[in-house]
Amino acid sequence: MSWQEFPKLELHLHLEGAAPPALVRDLAKRRHIDISRAFNQAGGYAFHDFAHFLQVYEAATSVLKTPEDYAALTHAVLDTLEEQGVVYAETFISPDFCGGRDLAAWREYVAAMAELCQQRAARGGPDLRAIVTCIRHFGPDAAKETALCAAETMGAFVRGFGMGGDETMGRQGDFAWAFDCAREAGLGLTTHAGEFGGPASVREAVEKLGVRRIGHGVRAIEDPALVDLLAEREIFLEICPGSNLRLGLYPNLRAHPVERLRAAGVKFSISTDDPPFFGTTMVQEYQALERIFDWDAGLFGEINAMALAAAFCDGHTKANLTKRLKQADALAGDG
Ligand code: ADE
Ligand code: ZN
Repeated sequence: MSWQEFPKLELHLHLEGAAPPALVRDLAKRRHIDISRAFNQAGGYAFHDFAHFLQVYEAATSVLKTPEDYAALTHAVLDTLEEQGVVYAETFISPDFCGGRDLAAWREYVAAMAELCQQRAARGGPDLRAIVTCIRHFGPDAAKETALCAAETMGAFVRGFGMGGDETMGRQGDFAWAFDCAREAGLGLTTHAGEFGGPASVREAVEKLGVRRIGHGVRAIEDPALVDLLAEREIFLEICPGSNLRLGLYPNLRAHPVERLRAAGVKFSISTDDPPFFGTTMVQEYQALERIFDWDAGLFGEINAMALAAAFCDGHTKANLTKRLKQADALAGDG
């Protein structure tokens, strides 16, 4: 079985960050918005560091103006997931970008995306669920409104609450109210930490926000006691190696801590974060990990199992996915 066919789970994927550049360019043209500076000559997204990446990300997102635009984006993202052999994914969506944190508008965006996801899944396509995300550099008050939007729309599609954005602004603990609100609503929790913040940011996320899932978290490797704590408490890391390389955290995959974290018993999954921004795909991530660390189908099967256990979907969905993965295993065995 090729890595393309190998069934995969992806738990860390920003919806706008997965927007094909052609779709963004097309919407910009139709809306007469000039975002040409967001692109390089080859037509891909252009940025030179993390702060600039966030600016380009927000410029690209500014062309998405209606629930229909988000349905079109979701459609394109599902096409890519299907082509990459992803059977289940969780994607970050944000009321900041979908209706400016207005609850009535937000409901319309969620309905448009949820309906499309349901239709595509019913036809055997990838199962895509959402994690509502506040944007750290928009501050704690905006995050409270975002958490309320998340709580109000929790259901089959909206499964979690998280935080992305500029990790160098404010502290994890500043957002405790938003995370408490989301927890009370029954949402799964995750936050970006240990990407541009050091190991202390991972510890703070666990202690102050009570999350059991962390976006990235790879810089925990700089604190061996923290690595032990993550392994012991089964705090799960959504690791995105290609993203970390493209944003300059590590010079190459061999220097990336993913293999050391695995060997230390930390639970994790592999994801692409913002694939067209970082020039990656799920298949490319698998190929690179096979090439550099010799990871094989057995190990990727274990990673799938860890991802499934940490996923925010309901038990029924997990049972169906378990069957789907077992069938694929059996097919691989036959081949
Ligand atoms: N938003 C989109 N991608 C992100 C990343 N890698 N880190 C933080 N916020 C993000
Ligand atoms: Zn991310």
